[in-house]
Amino acid sequence: MTVEPVLTFADVIIVPGKAPVEPGMVRLETSITRSHRVDIPLLSSPMDTVTEVRLAVLLARIGAVGVIHRNMTAEEEAEMVRRVKSADPSPESEVPLVSSLEEAIEAVKNGVPAVLLKGGERAIVLPEGSDYQTLGVKAELLYQLLDQGVRPSVDEQGRLLVGAAVSPFDVNRAVMLEKAGVDFLVIDVAHLHNVNALEALKNLRRNVGVEIIAGNIGTKEAVLDVIQALDGEVGGLRVGISSGSICSTGVVAGASMPTLTAVIQARLALEELGLHGSIPIIADGGVRGPGDAAKALIAGASAVMAGRMLAGTLESAAPIVRLEKGRFKVYRGMASRGAMERRYASDRYSRPSKRLEEGVEGLVPFEGSAVRVVAHLYFGLQAALGYAGAGSIREAWEKARLAKVTPIGLQEIKPHDIILT
Ligand code: XMP
Repeated sequence: MTVEPVLTFADVIIVPGKAPVEPGMVRLETSITRSHRVDIPLLSSPMDTVTEVRLAVLLARIGAVGVIHRNMTAEEEAEMVRRVKSADPSPESEVPLVSSLEEAIEAVKNGVPAVLLKGGERAIVLPEGSDYQTLGVKAELLYQLLDQGVRPSVDEQGRLLVGAAVSPFDVNRAVMLEKAGVDFLVIDVAHLHNVNALEALKNLRRNVGVEIIAGNIGTKEAVLDVIQALDGEVGGLRVGISSGSICSTGVVAGASMPTLTAVIQARLALEELGLHGSIPIIADGGVRGPGDAAKALIAGASAVMAGRMLAGTLESAAPIVRLEKGRFKVYRGMASRGAMERRYASDRYSRPSKRLEEGVEGLVPFEGSAVRVVAHLYFGLQAALGYAGAGSIREAWEKARLAKVTPIGLQEIKPHDIILT
């Protein structure tokens, strides 16, 4: 028996390298599956407090992509996919760009903010009673992203891209989602490296033609087995086990593969097969912000998947809860008691195979629009890759380096010796 060392995001830092361009010039365009490319390397987690139509539409309009959760009937999930596919792809549907005050007043009647362009200056017009921190900031940052050249994530026909979660055992649902026009399926099990799950995935693959992101997995062996099971027809790999903010698998079952190490493992396996760069690695779980995301990308990922980062936003699938201390949103693991009960009630095919809770449920602070989170990620990633000496994600794979820090060293990296006000 050997005990292998693993690394989490907090264990490493990005080594500064010679930057080829200014951070504002860093391009973040990437692949999320073998055939789909997007401008922002972000997928939202398929979780019932995170991704439904509202968030999926917004994310695709601003260059990222959403993955619809599966905690509902197959018909309902397919209907959500159809709604995203038929939505207007223009980012201006979120925040209309107008040239007169009359048009702005007309636009805000629909409850959306508007941007009034006059003499090269942009002014933000808000609906009565709305707060600037939510809709005003959304309007401002949305146009800052567009200024960067970020385009909506769309298919060949110009419709918004969307993914949808499915269990490997649920062929009916996969077929329905494909018929609804889903762009890619995301296999949604905690541990795909299991003989029954792999056999089921093989069978599911035979029944659909759409691309499949397979996961979750965390080791080199698992990557090799998944690729073998699918005869190389893998759309992408979803890696990381039990690093998620709401995961309790690591505590309950003692099993875990931190997302950063899972990415490194997947990269090693793909490099061995000559497939790194053609099968995207999606780093899933524990990504708290642009710093973690940059580390995942440098390690070899093509994009990150995030639940917590988007859970507190206006557009997430949970309602706003008002407490004395402020506004919050519910966020829960898909293997938490509440989520499992909903699944059990809604779809017998999705019935959990185990009754063990491996997730927690709680509240996260309300954080305004998801545009703010995406913009923060975008500009933060540009800065991080700039420091790393890379002008693109591909260049980061080739040139950028990570280094290990000691737990004591971490104290120095964070703000210290100051009382924060
Ligand atoms: P973050 O850190 O972004 O992680 O909130 C989201 C990812 O966590 C996984 N997930 C779970 N893992 N128990 C787990 O062990 C759960 O109940 C659970 N629910 C979600 C999932 O991979 C998600 O994308």
